[in-house]
Amino acid sequence: MSAFEQSGNGDKPAFKRPRRPRYSGTHPKSYRQKYKEHNISAYPRMKEHLLAKGKTPAGSHIPVLTEMVIACLRPKPGETIVDCTVGYGGHASEFIRHIGPTGKLIALDVDSAELERTRLRLSYENVPVSFHRSNFAGIAKVLKKENLAGCDVIFADLGVSSMQIDNPDRGISYKYEGPLDMRMDDRLKQTAADLLNTLCEEKLSKAFSELADEPDHQKIARLLVARRADKPVTRTSQLVDVIFDAKGIIKKTWHKLRRTSKSPSLHPAARTFQALRILVNDELGCLKELLRIAPYCLRPAGRIGIISFHSGEDRIVKKAFRDGLRNGIYQSAAVDPIVPHLKEIISNPRSSSAKFRWATLK
Ligand SMILES: C[S@@+](CC[C@H](N)C(=O)[O-])C[C@H]1O[C@@H](n2cnc3c(N)ncnc32)[C@H](O)[C@@H]1O
Repeated sequence: MSAFEQSGNGDKPAFKRPRRPRYSGTHPKSYRQKYKEHNISAYPRMKEHLLAKGKTPAGSHIPVLTEMVIACLRPKPGETIVDCTVGYGGHASEFIRHIGPTGKLIALDVDSAELERTRLRLSYENVPVSFHRSNFAGIAKVLKKENLAGCDVIFADLGVSSMQIDNPDRGISYKYEGPLDMRMDDRLKQTAADLLNTLCEEKLSKAFSELADEPDHQKIARLLVARRADKPVTRTSQLVDVIFDAKGIIKKTWHKLRRTSKSPSLHPAARTFQALRILVNDELGCLKELLRIAPYCLRPAGRIGIISFHSGEDRIVKKAFRDGLRNGIYQSAAVDPIVPHLKEIISNPRSSSAKFRWATLK
């Protein structure tokens, strides 16, 4: 039955509010049941409460290093900005405030569902914003579509958004039971499960090591290949089990140790999940292409800024800016990465691994 139904008293359609998902107990626990958090602007006190506890409301994303991004990229009234990873639109909103009604924001993302939600959220802004479902590796094509020879600022906040991490259906986090999908762009042909069940042991081992420095990469790949011969590994919980078994860790013991330990240790599955996600989305390949093409997409004295979340990405950004500076493409670049202050990390623990680098074209 649709949400719009005929009312009993004539032909006027009456809007019938869809039922919220039911949950047992007093508080919703699963991502889908948190209907208030998904509509957080209507519940400001809940937003305050969650933020004070260092939590991100379900279905939203807290932008990281925003002040530093604005200070280093210096968006000005009338400028054209390409936000390559618009996500929830946190950084985009700040850019809009600075460029004003004479400026233009071009917003890219590969995630069509989140892009549509952000388009609606930003539609009230008094600035021309155009949205493109596009990989940032294709930034040159987007500028061409916009009839632009270049832009003033290119910005990318790499990786996944909180909405993507927390949604169990995406299979990105080891914390939630779900299908091993991990694609940010659902037009991609291969999911994480496809790769896990087809790549040879050597390739899996190499990916776990090179993309996330997983020290037990060989053991995990070996056990994975043995387990998938019995039954395909298609769920996050199956992969977590393989990782614990390969490392010889008993789940109960690890959780007990974690609760009692003062310094929280990395979850045993964190690195393998990260490596798989990077592999599924070819994240490093896309980043290299963006950095290669960016100087051709910027106007003279244009600025580029990239926030990365792991050493593999940061190394690529650092090298591209350093080489660009040496070759005379860039006139200046960040010497050291800019990282969040403790205050930001406490209020948003997901910012803890963020590193921001910028460069200015000649
Ligand atoms: C960390 S979030 C960005 C959050 C955003 N800055 C905000 O303030 O809400 C990263 C976003 O980039 C998108 N993304 C990742 N890789 C991409 C790529 N190669 N091209 C375009 N979008 C990408 C993801 O789908 C996700 O929405």
